[in-house]
Amino acid sequence: MTDKKTGMRKGLTKYGDEGFSLYLRKAFIKGMGYTDDALDRPIVGITNTFSEYNACHGTVPQLIAAVKRGVMLAGGLPVEFPTITIHESFAFPTSMYMRNLMSIDTEEMIRAQPMDSVVLIGGCDKTVPALLMGAASAALPAILEVTGPMLPGSHRGERLGACTDCRRFWGKYRADEIDLEEIAQITDQLVPSAGTCGVMGTASTMAIIAEALGMMLPGGACIPAVLADRYRHAEQTGARAVHMAKDGSPAPDKVMTADAFHNALTVLQAIGGSTNGIVHLAALAGRLGLTLDLNEFDKIGRNTQVLVDLKPSGENYMDDMHKAGGTGPLFRELGDMLHLTALTVNGKSLGENIDDLPPPFDQEIIRSKQNPVAKSGGMAVLKGNLAPDCAVIKHVAASPELLNHTGKAVVFKNMEDLVNRIDDPDLEVDKDSVLVMQNAGPKGAPGMPESGYLPIPKKLAAAGVKDMVRISDARMSGTAFGTIILHVAPESAVGGPLALVKDGDLIKLDVENRTLDVLISDQELAKRRANWTPPTPHAGSERGYSKLYQDTVTQAPEGCDFDFLQARK
Ligand code: FES
Repeated sequence: MTDKKTGMRKGLTKYGDEGFSLYLRKAFIKGMGYTDDALDRPIVGITNTFSEYNACHGTVPQLIAAVKRGVMLAGGLPVEFPTITIHESFAFPTSMYMRNLMSIDTEEMIRAQPMDSVVLIGGCDKTVPALLMGAASAALPAILEVTGPMLPGSHRGERLGACTDCRRFWGKYRADEIDLEEIAQITDQLVPSAGTCGVMGTASTMAIIAEALGMMLPGGACIPAVLADRYRHAEQTGARAVHMAKDGSPAPDKVMTADAFHNALTVLQAIGGSTNGIVHLAALAGRLGLTLDLNEFDKIGRNTQVLVDLKPSGENYMDDMHKAGGTGPLFRELGDMLHLTALTVNGKSLGENIDDLPPPFDQEIIRSKQNPVAKSGGMAVLKGNLAPDCAVIKHVAASPELLNHTGKAVVFKNMEDLVNRIDDPDLEVDKDSVLVMQNAGPKGAPGMPESGYLPIPKKLAAAGVKDMVRISDARMSGTAFGTIILHVAPESAVGGPLALVKDGDLIKLDVENRTLDVLISDQELAKRRANWTPPTPHAGSERGYSKLYQDTVTQAPEGCDFDFLQARK
């Protein structure tokens, strides 16, 4: 028994006698029938994010089998281990509240158990960032395999899928345009197969920008979950993980460099991606000692067109993007807007991977720069006396006529207040009002839920109003659309100016000039701040994970990570 710190010899349990530790470890694992030959191979850990609560991860068992096949074909030993999983609709109070817990679990399980590289399998919105954050902190060679998008469904001859269409049809139901029977039929079609949401929501966004970051083998982001191509990609991922295990490289910080983050931000703008992508990228950068520059992100947006025609910015689904060639044609079209020398997990640069692409063919989903879906990037970063640190708007999915708008605030103190009053027939609101929701940020909600898509008051929806300016310190699903300002920082619950807005204040949004202001004097703001009192602490926040969360979660521009998980700079 040598003291080679790889494979089974790695990270020995401390009994005060390393020989005994290895002897005992081997004895236990041999209880599962392994031979010495198997145990002497490079070990590839494979995360297991399966859960019967999570349809987005419904194919994880088959994906693990494919990854294992690839690992064994390449001469390694695959070892599957669990980490927690999070589904958007099955996490209380919100999935974002759990993301950091998943990242801690992933990091510590990678670190605690013997493995030479790790395959990260995830897909649903928070799982990909959590896995990448954990792997970045664990600093072991890591490669991502996403579960892949679901297929589109069909309702009365119309294609549909989670979750842009979920919101569109729910809006019709609220406006009495469709009845209870039809909305029930639609529920059967919105998620017609296992896999992640099939539009350019957060899961698709994170898959594509993870590939742009270099953490996935080329072509993996868009393959639908249930296609054979997905399992072939997983097999190749397993095989590649063995080479990474043998080489001991590349470590995550050699792939996810400042150049790689520039690429991810450029791609995020060019796909009209989810606003959540900014929060997750900020958290991930923080794990690697980098700072995500939101001014740079905004600048990239002014010089980058939206090139991908997917809902909610466009008309199509991830299945269509896969058929159009996936990320390859997009990366090729972006060309030198990307840092092409950035290393990727297959050991080649992004530019070399683009050179290896098959020849282009005619398709309508991934556009040329001469024929973009939108002339500038998908998102803008706003600042002003209402958002001194920043706020974000996905203007490509907003109403053009509202991008420069001044209106009277209608203020809701929190999500409960919103639910109680938004449909009140006596609510003083009209189509030009600006809906404001306070206390829905990282600490305030808690967990910065996707509640920023404030519903149109029922009486206005019934009158045909489809969009209004809406502002909060919450997030929004990447699948949603509307003139919605999110991530206002600092948040209300820590005394940000959003907490000081009152009914009737005039709010001015000017997206062209990137400003968001409440039109009251500094003196009046100071007077209101002096009288402001913080909200009552959440029940249960005096102990456990809730206390850890409240004490250490950062604001949106830092990614809502826990401050002690960020790398020391
Ligand atoms: Fe899992 Fe949309 S709910 S990806």
